[in-house]
Amino acid sequence: MMSAEPGASMATMRIGILTGGGDCPGLNAVIRAVTRRALDRGDEVVGILHGWRGLIDGNTRPLGTRDISGILPRGGTILRTSRTNPYKVDGGLEATLASLAGLDALVAIGGEDTLGVAARLYAEHDAPVVGVPKTIDNDLSATDYTFGFDTALSIATEAIDRLHSTAESHDRVMVCEVMGRHAGWIALLSGMAGGADVVLIPEQPVTVERCCELIDRRHRRGKDFSIVVVSEGWELRFEGSDAQLVAAPEADAFGHARLGGIGAVLAGEIEQRTGFETRVTQLGHVQRGGSPTAHDRVLATRFGLRAADLVFEGSFGMMASLRGDEIVAVPIADAVAGLKTVPPALYAQAEALFG
Ligand code: F6P
Repeated sequence: MMSAEPGASMATMRIGILTGGGDCPGLNAVIRAVTRRALDRGDEVVGILHGWRGLIDGNTRPLGTRDISGILPRGGTILRTSRTNPYKVDGGLEATLASLAGLDALVAIGGEDTLGVAARLYAEHDAPVVGVPKTIDNDLSATDYTFGFDTALSIATEAIDRLHSTAESHDRVMVCEVMGRHAGWIALLSGMAGGADVVLIPEQPVTVERCCELIDRRHRRGKDFSIVVVSEGWELRFEGSDAQLVAAPEADAFGHARLGGIGAVLAGEIEQRTGFETRVTQLGHVQRGGSPTAHDRVLATRFGLRAADLVFEGSFGMMASLRGDEIVAVPIADAVAGLKTVPPALYAQAEALFG
């Protein structure tokens, strides 16, 4: 194993790349950028398959020029992914460290869970990891945006546009449930872009009563249809009672509840309380699939190029991040220190046009 001395540009390195957690449009653009930069220098690139599980199982494949040809516009990840947490697998940490010993550097592309493991491996074992932030949820601290978010936002906005014409034709209330876990970025911004009449996000404790009041007010003003966007992590809340998260009972290896279903519950409440016919659309994984927008391709490519440079400099424990229009390096630990949620002022702006 060669050490990554700053300025040791002639030394060849063995660089691993993995993608972990939920897939997201733009992952392949990062893989392409890192691999091309490394191959240009004469380095060897190893694709780790299925996220951290590939390091545990030793499931890898070499990445050459042909492997990355034509992948820029492709959704998903050519390296596959999983939600494996090496700290939760018997012998997982030891196997991960053994595999890491065969690499000079690892580029971990992921959200809070994948990067959380990377930060811990670096802090506790001095592992030569560099991070790249991805997630459609846009909820990572220490970066203004993650790639994948713009694509999800565009898909959700298009869906809301489409729901408008059918809602209007039938005089219905349409509830559109979008992803985002415990951050309401997709819901709020797609709601603003699509002109939704109510947007419900985890950060704002709006009640069902208030939601119905806004719909009623709109109908009293002469409108016969309404669009409600609800984030999967918004808790069902009635005046005077406790809020309730709608989730599947089982948690994943990182302890996250599987969210989804609040839209249907809310639609039932709206119909019953307002008397307006109400339908629900749960966008689900459509938001994550398919080709990345041009914006996400560019952001992912810039992150990948910066991550490659961090590897070449030996700046381990660091992550590529967007600040304004600049790609900078920040400690991976900062990105996983807390969730980046929607600021109240931004919600207030959207709220001004509700109902
Ligand atoms: O974190 C990305 C995300 O798409 C969330 O918005 C959503 O709650 C979750 O992943 C869904 O996960 P899974 O792919 O396991 O269904």
